[in-house]
Amino acid sequence: METLRLDTTDKDIEKAGEIIRAGGLVAFPTETVYGLGADALNGDAVKSIYTAKGRPSDNPMIVHIASMEELDELAEAVSDEIKALMAELWPGPITFVLKKKSLVPDVTTGGLDTVAVRMPASEVALKLIRSSGRPVAAPSANISGRPSPTTAMDVLEDMEGRIEAVIMGEDCKVGIESTVLDCTGDAPAILRPGFVTPERLEKVLGREVSYDAHLLEKPAEVLDPEDGAADTETFKPKSPGMKYKHYSPKAKVQIVAGDAAAVRAEAEADGIKTAVLDYSENCEEAAHRFFADLRELDRQGTELILVCALEERGLGFAIMNRMLKSAGYDVIQ
Ligand code: TXA
Ligand code: MG
Repeated sequence: METLRLDTTDKDIEKAGEIIRAGGLVAFPTETVYGLGADALNGDAVKSIYTAKGRPSDNPMIVHIASMEELDELAEAVSDEIKALMAELWPGPITFVLKKKSLVPDVTTGGLDTVAVRMPASEVALKLIRSSGRPVAAPSANISGRPSPTTAMDVLEDMEGRIEAVIMGEDCKVGIESTVLDCTGDAPAILRPGFVTPERLEKVLGREVSYDAHLLEKPAEVLDPEDGAADTETFKPKSPGMKYKHYSPKAKVQIVAGDAAAVRAEAEADGIKTAVLDYSENCEEAAHRFFADLRELDRQGTELILVCALEERGLGFAIMNRMLKSAGYDVIQ
């Protein structure tokens, strides 16, 4: 199919909303990464997201909303504590996992009885949701396993010919995906670290917020989504997105805790085209650029990408989570 390039004008966003209402797929900018949107209440439309991304069908979607009324349709009543977090942090880069209502099709939640909901801060994203008149299911708009797209060009690189349209918006400000907070247990727990840190959540809640245990350990095995489904039976973490190979450019990626220049010199002496990504502990810059840099280095034909480790604190923990996955947990001391 031909992938339409749409602008961020009201007229074009109206067109994008129509495509979503008709069951089609539209990639759109958010403040975190570009999303690949479909009508979250239309099971067939959501299924076509899995096909376009080459994504395993047990991996649930985040449902994007533009108003609190939409939340009531999707999820069971939330506690006052969670409401306070939403009031403080929405619209913004945080997703809440809640008990789902039956209106949400199983295919949208990967068969779980919970639904992940986010109200994005991006004006274009909010306008698209409103113009579609639907809650919009949207994973990141990349081929499964590849770095998330943070520019419209990155989306086209993966999705040209596979989806109905792309809204050609601006580059994503945050650059890594939203924090995913599980609100279905006794205490809220972070399933995926993101721009909103535990410290920020603790400030609003007045109590400690922990990372889900799986975030603190290396997974027993890192699966490639292109490998058959057979091995996925053995590893069942709470957030299904955690078990697959992720964020991988074509180049080999290694995290360097020590002297990256020395490692680079060694690799280059062996004739390997090598690049170093050193964000010098500037975490906002690292979040903003990391995925885009991986894709850019691929375009330049880089064979080895050495990424300088960040301190795993606050936002640094969220970015290192992406960096480690893109390197398949290959760390050089
Ligand atoms: O910033 C973002 O969150 C972006 C933009 C487009 O909003 N979206 C995004 O979606 O990153 P995706 O599909 O790439 O990642 C969704 C994550 C996965 O790790 C998935 O397993 C988890 O959220 N998730 C979704 N629904 C869940 C649920 N019901 N329970 C637990 N985890 C869930
Ligand atoms: Mg993703």
